[in-house]
Amino acid sequence: MELQNNSVFDCSVIDLSKVHNDAGNITVLENGINVPFDVKRIYYLYDIPGGESRGGHAHYELEQFIIAASGSFDVTLDDGKNRKIVSLSRPNFALHVVPGLWREIDNFSSGSICMVLASHKYAESDYIRNYEEFIEFKK
Ligand code: TYD
Repeated sequence: MELQNNSVFDCSVIDLSKVHNDAGNITVLENGINVPFDVKRIYYLYDIPGGESRGGHAHYELEQFIIAASGSFDVTLDDGKNRKIVSLSRPNFALHVVPGLWREIDNFSSGSICMVLASHKYAESDYIRNYEEFIEFKK
């Protein structure tokens, strides 16, 4: 994949479907079934103070599924040319974020949980944390 050329239009919200039950719902995520990459890591953001924003970086290789496991928040995607804001509020939908995009997450509702499924283990070397550097990378 030409990561440099990835655009916000390569990212989409995927319906994970749910098993409905009168006692509550279940949503299932499985490698190769409804997740289009092999999940190597799961992490989640929680106890986010009001008005805070997260992200503010890009990844060279990392592919992610971002899910509002509880509450709601907005994900802003930026490919250096286009911006797209995706509001997530339902635990049975995932935003598929391809590598090579700048992202910021804000407007967290009180008590929200942002769950992220990731295609690689944590590696600081995979981050671009400077926006100017990111724009250079996308040229
Ligand atoms: P970062 O990815 O910058 O957070 P966010 O994008 O949510 O704002 O990570 C914040 C800190 O947490 C950073 O110091 C690295 C650490 N961290 C890990 O050690 N392992 C991980 O899997 C993640 C996602 C972060």
